[in-house]
Amino acid sequence: MDTPMRSNNALNSALQCIKPEIRALAGYTAPPQETVVAKLNQNENPYDIPQDWKTVILQKMQQIKWPLYPEYNPGSLKNRLAQWFNVNEDQILLGHGSNQLLYLICTSVIVPGDSVIITPPTFSLFDLAVRIFQGRILNIDKQNNFSLDMDAMIPAAKTAKLILLCSPDNPTGIVIPLDQLTSILQNTRGLVIWDEAYTEFGGKSALPLLEDYPNLIISRTFSKAFGLAGLRLGYLIGHPDIIRELQKANIPYNVNLFTLLTANYLLDHREWMDQHVKKIVSDRQKLFDQMQKIPQIKPFISEANFILFKTSDKKKIFDGLKARGILVRDVGNKPPLDCCLRVTVGTPRENKAFLNAVEEIVKTVEKPF
Ligand SMILES: Cc1ncc(COP(=O)(O)O)c(C=O)c1O
Repeated sequence: MDTPMRSNNALNSALQCIKPEIRALAGYTAPPQETVVAKLNQNENPYDIPQDWKTVILQKMQQIKWPLYPEYNPGSLKNRLAQWFNVNEDQILLGHGSNQLLYLICTSVIVPGDSVIITPPTFSLFDLAVRIFQGRILNIDKQNNFSLDMDAMIPAAKTAKLILLCSPDNPTGIVIPLDQLTSILQNTRGLVIWDEAYTEFGGKSALPLLEDYPNLIISRTFSKAFGLAGLRLGYLIGHPDIIRELQKANIPYNVNLFTLLTANYLLDHREWMDQHVKKIVSDRQKLFDQMQKIPQIKPFISEANFILFKTSDKKKIFDGLKARGILVRDVGNKPPLDCCLRVTVGTPRENKAFLNAVEEIVKTVEKPF
């Protein structure tokens, strides 16, 4: 039997085996999944797929053999996606959510010390993923209006191995114009990852650029517009030779049977997704207009399924909302986001609950914005 002392030593030795770079990280944090009045903190789609579709999918699921691995290279799903985007199947790589594919890119590309450009404020996982793989982060801060600083970007792009961009961006909701992406692609010998997680809600897809730029990789997901965050499905679209190399480092069977079935089913009913996207986009405008009328907050125009807003008293508003069962996202303590919160566009009922609660809370906030 080990004494407590010996097991402490053993634990310390075991911990020493974990890379110091990993131990130094704070890690990704996410709020617990709670049942609340309005869960508007993770940019999830408020519309679940219809019950009768779920029944059909579950019946199909009952008929297939669970002990068997799913397809290694799921041709049916890739074929549907390829047809949708008018690309070839070999330009598509599927993943267990687009986050897994971000890690795949980092593991395939970054040798410790390689330069990777990130443009804060942007998707927080970019920074974490690059640190895990020990890339050297070159932060090219966005300008005051959250647009890219192209004067700083172009010289930096010339030496970077990897450039991580997101449009519409999270948490700002701003779109990066495609002509800026084109200039970056023309001025780098590195790979450019263009995250289109929210592209169905606004902005333009970079798909037309794929033909001219083999160094462009587009990342997309079923988590937002399709409302399948719980099933974990993302995909990359890129040059076939680049996709083939990345596939070599991918985890085999990373898309499970149930996810494959459901995604195939939804791709045959894409009009359902289109309708809900339209609804969310029109509700986003209504929510924005109402938020603008509240003097203690200032919403930023967004092309995604969420709205970033400045507050004159962030803690009071965040806590007041939470106490009323309305969850929004605190997007951090560093400028330029230190006074900001982010709210997901929910159902009209959820948006109303959010607005009513903010109006009630700000009655006790003296400073108008
Ligand atoms: C910019 C961006 N990319 C990717 C993701 C995650 O996508 P997935 O659920 O496919 O891993 C998110 C999730 O919030 C996101 O904001």
